[in-house]
Amino acid sequence: MRVRVLGSAAGGGVPQWNCGCANCQAARSGEGTVRPRTQDSLAFSSSGENWHLINASPDLLRQIEATPALWPRGPRHSPIRSVTLTNGDLDHALGLFSLRESWPLTLYATASVRRGLEDRNIIFRTLRRFPEQVTWRELTLGQPVELEPGLTLEARPMPGKLPVHLMGVADAGPEDNVALWIREARTGGRVVYAGATSTATGIAEELRGVDCVFFDGTFWSSDELVRLGLSKARAEDMAHVPLTGEGGSLEVLRRVLAGRKIYTHINNSNPMLVEDSPEHRAVLDAGCEIAFDGMEVVL
Ligand code: MLT
Ligand code: MN
Ligand code: ZN
Repeated sequence: MRVRVLGSAAGGGVPQWNCGCANCQAARSGEGTVRPRTQDSLAFSSSGENWHLINASPDLLRQIEATPALWPRGPRHSPIRSVTLTNGDLDHALGLFSLRESWPLTLYATASVRRGLEDRNIIFRTLRRFPEQVTWRELTLGQPVELEPGLTLEARPMPGKLPVHLMGVADAGPEDNVALWIREARTGGRVVYAGATSTATGIAEELRGVDCVFFDGTFWSSDELVRLGLSKARAEDMAHVPLTGEGGSLEVLRRVLAGRKIYTHINNSNPMLVEDSPEHRAVLDAGCEIAFDGMEVVL
């Protein structure tokens, strides 16, 4: 199985259009200490022919062009077979509308994520230009689905939150935010994607023995946005467990017996993005990695 990081940033990307923080400025300067990053999405493939996406970021068209494996093999063609949504956040879903030029796709999502996107949202009609354009397949928590022979995916609930645009208008539930467990039968390879979670507690045992885990790397510390004067929100208000502090994910992942442990969905405020920073070094010293756009994992 090949996994390719299409985008490794949280919502907004690095740099973010309206952000002049030190990291965003460094990313704009091109000096190399902070790499520019697009918004969170992964592609994976067992055969190398058919590809499956985890989330469809607003940067998807750029990400496809940066990834020859995702280019058409004919006059009208795409190797992209499916998109799985892990929640309804717009940094994970807006890219669907960039895939509207009539190519059949299968979309996997829990019932609540699908409802949150489709209900009262007339622009979804643009993905119904012909009957087979989009086939929704419902993800039931804990039940593996077969993406293609020998390649399965299972959604498991992760504590998170409703998308910002549904807060106050929809009831929250366990289907709003999921982690994905991907398994390739031929190699026995297992990949986990947990790009958004409000807690790392209790996950170590579940992750034992997986070949590669992608984990929520949004914030270094709980008060990072507040301290930088960027926002009043703390990490917990946004349902992202920070790497450090009480219950931080870095101490948990350090002890997880998994092949590779990779932080992704990294917010532009996170100091670990600075490649010569002590925070960057601390992540590597804990046996973890920091995703970047174009990173490839081969199992
Ligand atoms: C998140 O990861 O918390 C969301 O992407 C935030 C947002 O939608 O702006
Ligand atoms: Mn996000
Ligand atoms: Zn910034």
